[in-house]
Amino acid sequence: MAAIDFRSDTVAMPSPEMRLAMVEAPLGDDVFGDDPTTNRLMEVAAERMGKQAATFVPSGTMGNLIGIAVNAHSGEELIADADSHVFYYETAGAAAVCGVQIRPVPTEAGVMTPEQVVQAVRPRDDPHQPITAAITFENTHNRHGGIAWPLDVLRAASDTAHAQGLRVHLDGARIFNAAVALGVDASEIAACADTVTFCLSKGLACPVGSIFCGSEESVDEARRWRKRLGGGMRQVGVLAAAGLIALDHMVDRLAEDHSNARTLAEGLGELPGVTCDLSRVQTNLVYFDLEKMSAPEFTDECTKRGLLSDWVGPRRMRFVTHYGIGAQDVQSALKICEDVLSA
Ligand SMILES: Cc1ncc(COP(=O)(O)O)c(C=O)c1O
Repeated sequence: MAAIDFRSDTVAMPSPEMRLAMVEAPLGDDVFGDDPTTNRLMEVAAERMGKQAATFVPSGTMGNLIGIAVNAHSGEELIADADSHVFYYETAGAAAVCGVQIRPVPTEAGVMTPEQVVQAVRPRDDPHQPITAAITFENTHNRHGGIAWPLDVLRAASDTAHAQGLRVHLDGARIFNAAVALGVDASEIAACADTVTFCLSKGLACPVGSIFCGSEESVDEARRWRKRLGGGMRQVGVLAAAGLIALDHMVDRLAEDHSNARTLAEGLGELPGVTCDLSRVQTNLVYFDLEKMSAPEFTDECTKRGLLSDWVGPRRMRFVTHYGIGAQDVQSALKICEDVLSA
């Protein structure tokens, strides 16, 4: 029996339709700008984000790194939530590659208030301090449980940042999960930012790729950075073809992943020794805490029974639902968890 894989939505396999499109895609050299499938995907992606232009990048991490590079210069500072992916999991790329210092701001739920934004901006007339050039927001917010920032809260933070003269980058790795959860168009979320990165290879189930979007000027700059980072790919239309299918067919179905996550969270919350904050389970990520067992031990025991998962703290777990998980898998997983906890 195939394992139930809750480690991440990145494990989702491409659909049969994507595989077919990948085989049949007309191709060219995208570094020269003449891959027709990639060019088409960039048009569609920019339109979906309400931006002028877009460029294909290998990963969300590279998209965010480019977002930092085009919005801030070496010696400047970028404000980010202290639990953001950019600060936590991107191997200090901002510092190592761009010479940009991140200022981490602890927040209640990944949502920065206008007051916090203002407080984090350095006074421009003090030569001791770096210039605050930009801010980044994350929606949905991974380490804060996959929550989707309400639009008015995001707008308030973004308007404040712009009023302070900052550029805004959105880590929209899961922007479509946010859009589906909030019942809004992804472009409304992206409108809060000057540049946005979103991932094709997470909930949208593509094998590889993310897209960086912004103004023509930002995307020209992004293409230069992409080349510098070694991310210029040639007949990348084989991957873009899957992206086109994803944007057409994989967005609305994210509601199914959210509903599976909800059922999972409710079921986990009923198990003895498990605490799950249901208010945070708004999309496809389910974080929960174990009272009587360590998270690594729980993970090992689940793995032995065919349930793959990820622990994120000594007693903290994360389960992720995606295209490869059906309603029946959720029930089987709950049974496995119950067995492990009662063994
Ligand atoms: C919120 C967020 N941003 C960015 C990334 C980075 O994406 P990638 O793994 O494609 O580099 C991830 C990956 O899980 C993520 O969760």
